[in-house]
Amino acid sequence: MLTKAPKGTNDILPDKSHIWQHIEKEILKICKEYNYKEIRTPVFEHTELFERGVGDTTDVVEKEMYTFNDKGGRSITLRPEGTASVSRSYIENGIFNTPQPSKLFYNIACYRYEKNQAGRYREFHQFGAEVLGGGEPSIDAELMSLAMLLYKRVGLTNLKLNINSIGCPECRKEYNQKLREFLRPNFDNLCDTCKNRFEKNPLRILDCKSSVCKDIAKGAPMLIDCICDECRDHFEAVKKALENMGIEYFIDPYIVRGLDYYTKTVFEIIADNKNSNSTICGGGRYDGLIAQLGHTTTPAAGFAMGLERLILTMEEQGVKFPEENVPDIYIGSMGDAAVSFASGLAFKLREKGASVEIDHLKRSVKAQMKFANKIGAKNAVIIGDNEMAENMANIKNMENGEEVKCALDAQSILDVISK
Ligand code: HAM
Repeated sequence: MLTKAPKGTNDILPDKSHIWQHIEKEILKICKEYNYKEIRTPVFEHTELFERGVGDTTDVVEKEMYTFNDKGGRSITLRPEGTASVSRSYIENGIFNTPQPSKLFYNIACYRYEKNQAGRYREFHQFGAEVLGGGEPSIDAELMSLAMLLYKRVGLTNLKLNINSIGCPECRKEYNQKLREFLRPNFDNLCDTCKNRFEKNPLRILDCKSSVCKDIAKGAPMLIDCICDECRDHFEAVKKALENMGIEYFIDPYIVRGLDYYTKTVFEIIADNKNSNSTICGGGRYDGLIAQLGHTTTPAAGFAMGLERLILTMEEQGVKFPEENVPDIYIGSMGDAAVSFASGLAFKLREKGASVEIDHLKRSVKAQMKFANKIGAKNAVIIGDNEMAENMANIKNMENGEEVKCALDAQSILDVISK
């Protein structure tokens, strides 16, 4: 146990962290282009926020939350997602008083007690974007375009953007009735969780993972056929905006999403993955959530994408990853005076922005050169008594083996290695 991480968690190891940094850099870049500002909220919240926000008949709240009492007896939950926290913060901090809509993004770890499998973890990371304080269809389309463009930038292809509208609470009332009528003959065969959902929230039954419930739900009436005129117009305008951007989409009337706050537009981005979970992004409009949390009715929409699934999809599609970061120069040393001099020289080079590695293990010169090679240093220099006496450095280009002599000072070395 001592040397084994808990089930469903992953270490991001040093040989992979540069891939994460690359994706995070692309996220920062695209959010700047789309004018989304970062928001950072706590890893844990009051449990009630998720019960109210995400919905107490969802799998996430019913089965998957990491909930515990803190020493003060408060019920605390590690966030299973970011939307409820961002909405809470929007209300608590008066973000609604800033110019609207508020366009926010986050890059966070989330926690769900789920069955461990490829692409499904108990700690995972989401990049999410939320627009609060605007109900226009242009927002829904902008969010989808941001997600699709980010995937394109990191090199993913063959993605499918599936969209649907699940209407507003008004259209849903009538639909819920129809759905109950459809499901009622098979009520006794539903799983216990779905039996409990039947009266309260029958839409959730369409999202159940049990194969029996899935079979019972086959052929159920579709929400999109029951939406009101306003919701239909909104959906048509979202489609038109996507068409204007040249973004291909597919209508999937079976998307209901696993969280309760959605209204009108919902969408998922699917990758054609063979070995891992293929829903790489999910989102939609949630016009009722902020009111549900006690504030005035405020329309909002957003999405979140799993970063582990994004990287797995890159691997499955054979996308070329960026090169690992390697030092510009390795400074080897021989003898006490040179060892001490080397760390001073390394500091001066680093001050000027170069990436530098030195010997910290008092290795032989041969072992130091081998090490420089192994870590992929672009250049190497060995400093000994002679170099110190002559104030001279012999810099070896590790790619082509060429050697160049220069004065033994940071600027002269920098001039050579930056050529
Ligand atoms: P979600 O569909 O629950 O939506 O999660 C969004 C994405 O997070 C999924 O598409 C998937 O890529 C990733 N994900 C979810 N669970 C796991 C897991 N156990 N392991 C690995 N990846 C996972 C939400 O969380 C909403 N808050 C999205 C949203 C934002 N809607 C509006 N605004």
